[in-house]
Amino acid sequence: MSLTPRRQVYGGYQGKERPSEQERIMHLLDEYRCSEGFVAEYLGRWIELSGDEALKGGLQTIREREAAHSRLLEARLRALGGEPQATISPERREQVWSLFASAEKTDLEKLQTLAVLFADPPDFMKPVTDLVEQIQEDQQSRELLRTIVDDEWASIGWLVGMHNRRKNGETTLANKK
Ligand SMILES: [Fe+2]
Repeated sequence: MSLTPRRQVYGGYQGKERPSEQERIMHLLDEYRCSEGFVAEYLGRWIELSGDEALKGGLQTIREREAAHSRLLEARLRALGGEPQATISPERREQVWSLFASAEKTDLEKLQTLAVLFADPPDFMKPVTDLVEQIQEDQQSRELLRTIVDDEWASIGWLVGMHNRRKNGETTLANKK
């Protein structure tokens, strides 16, 4: 059950034919800011709904990371003279909400969706890691993004590990409804 086929963290630059480095960075900052904020939002809903104490603990750390990333990316975007513009489409919001904000869906189903999304973490993160490698001038944005990516590896690793543990039957009372 994937949200959509081959999703990546960022859909790539859209706009001018020959964007400058700064234009490419600002586009990424805005899109990534937007999706991180949305992730923090739906993880919050999931945490409220889950009765799995272990899961809730890890998700709280990840939600805070995502919220912090969103704030940092927005601050950098504004420092470069940009304004937040990207939004989550109603279709995507509905699709994600119908899973993560649903009390009918199990934690395992939610974990499984993320495990599919993160089947190939370097591929998932590639649009960001590629840009990080290409940035020549804006060192502040480059290292901001690089350290955010480091957080993402940690979050992805924990989520995939938790999925494996739950899939392999390490259950809690709350999971055995
Ligand atoms: Fe993220």
